[in-house]
Amino acid sequence: MASTRRHFLQATATTAGALPAALGAQAPKSANDRIQFATIGIGGMGSGDTASAAAVPGTRLVAVCDIYQGRLERARERWGQDLGITRDYREILARKDVDAVIIATPDHWHARIAIDAMEAGKDVYVEKPMVQKWQDGTKVVEAAKKTGRIIQVGSQRVSSAEYRKAQEIFASGAIGELNMIEAWWDRNSAMGAWQYSIAPDATPATVDWDRFLGSAPKVPFDPTRLFRWRCYRDYGTGVAGDLFVHLFSGMHFVTGAVGPNRVFASGGLRFWKDGRDVPDILLGLFDYEKTASHPAFNLALRVNFVNGAGETSGFTFTGSEGVMTIGDGVSLTRLPKEKDPGMSSGNFDSATQQLIIAEHRRKYPIQQQTVADLGGGTVERWEAPDGYSDHAAHHANFFEAVRTRKPVVEDAVFGLRAAGPALLCNLSYETGKTIQWDPVAMQVKG
Ligand SMILES: NC(=O)c1ccc[n+]([C@@H]2O[C@H](COP(=O)([O-])OP(=O)(O)OC[C@H]3O[C@@H](n4cnc5c(N)ncnc54)[C@H](O)[C@@H]3O)[C@@H](O)[C@H]2O)c1
Repeated sequence: MASTRRHFLQATATTAGALPAALGAQAPKSANDRIQFATIGIGGMGSGDTASAAAVPGTRLVAVCDIYQGRLERARERWGQDLGITRDYREILARKDVDAVIIATPDHWHARIAIDAMEAGKDVYVEKPMVQKWQDGTKVVEAAKKTGRIIQVGSQRVSSAEYRKAQEIFASGAIGELNMIEAWWDRNSAMGAWQYSIAPDATPATVDWDRFLGSAPKVPFDPTRLFRWRCYRDYGTGVAGDLFVHLFSGMHFVTGAVGPNRVFASGGLRFWKDGRDVPDILLGLFDYEKTASHPAFNLALRVNFVNGAGETSGFTFTGSEGVMTIGDGVSLTRLPKEKDPGMSSGNFDSATQQLIIAEHRRKYPIQQQTVADLGGGTVERWEAPDGYSDHAAHHANFFEAVRTRKPVVEDAVFGLRAAGPALLCNLSYETGKTIQWDPVAMQVKG
């Protein structure tokens, strides 16, 4: 039987309020030393981001933008009738009282608005995936470099106390030499499969349809495409851009890996045949070459929206000396190496058996431990305390960077290295080809 030890993590998210008062050269100049921010795209995640950002000490929400009137009205219900509202994000960027913006629009707008915001002098928190098309990634990276603005990408696991613990365990060598990582995210519900409610009052009068479409192909007004935009590749990035990106962010953070060299994906649309043009099951296989921070290893990712047993998500990091898992806390299982390799003598005739046993005992004279004797090895578990939120910590990290001009935990390069291989899964799925990726240059090869 395995012996188990359990620990609780010390979660010490810094908050902007605990930071030194001295501001860097480019820090915000707003009244009362508050960082004033606005949210562009105030739907589900935009509202969640806004709540977490507004809870960081020293911040203030001043305006929101959305192309659907109902979201703007909901924002005023929630954050006050004097909140600035607009359907045009450029009006937000023109405001002098806005230091930073949160971008939580559908994916096809992320790169455009993030670049425009940085060029307008705003710091940016942009939701994952950082870009809808991997080719736009370096444009975002360059805009951040050129303007000197802070940009944080919104995969909050990078700020998680549990992932930090996993990073520490990995760096300590506890699992020995890494050889494989598996991660999965399965669901089995209409909401999990993005069948969100469609507002009954959505009409061309209450929705700025052309501004929703942006650079996407022109199609007639269709509220399903707006409220369930993830189901269409013109606006979303499929399960890969939605969920593989979180898995890449988490495992890159834990291992220090910057990305795979080869990408292959397979899948299909098996159940949610509601007009969507993206798969509901996707499997990705990735080869990581050896670098200074890790040996060569293989990665397998899975999203399955048709899992009859319900939602489950996690990671397994397999190494020569142990296995670490994330999901329901972090756990580490280690089985000491056997001292006696054992023998398989039973299927030989009696005389041969005697010879094998005698030879074995000559080499291993004392009865020593075999794997069977060792049982399940030792298991250690770590958990974040109740109420701990990686999302709150991620926003605190962003505003700390806005104030101090110190780097964020998840900058544009990190964001592209997570989004790039995820988006290449869609290319591989569509073409049936294996894609070669240069994770350092962040370019497709060949
Ligand atoms: N970090 C996470 O865990 C997490 C979780 C959910 C969603 N997200 C990300 O957040 C983003 C938004 O997802 P969501 O679930 O909130 O979608 P949503 O549909 O609930 O919200 C998107 C909002 O953007 C608005 N919008 C569309 N085009 C716009 C434009 N040009 N200008 C301004 N507003 C526009 C829509 O009307 C809508 O209100 C996505 O990129 C998604 O990947 C991240």
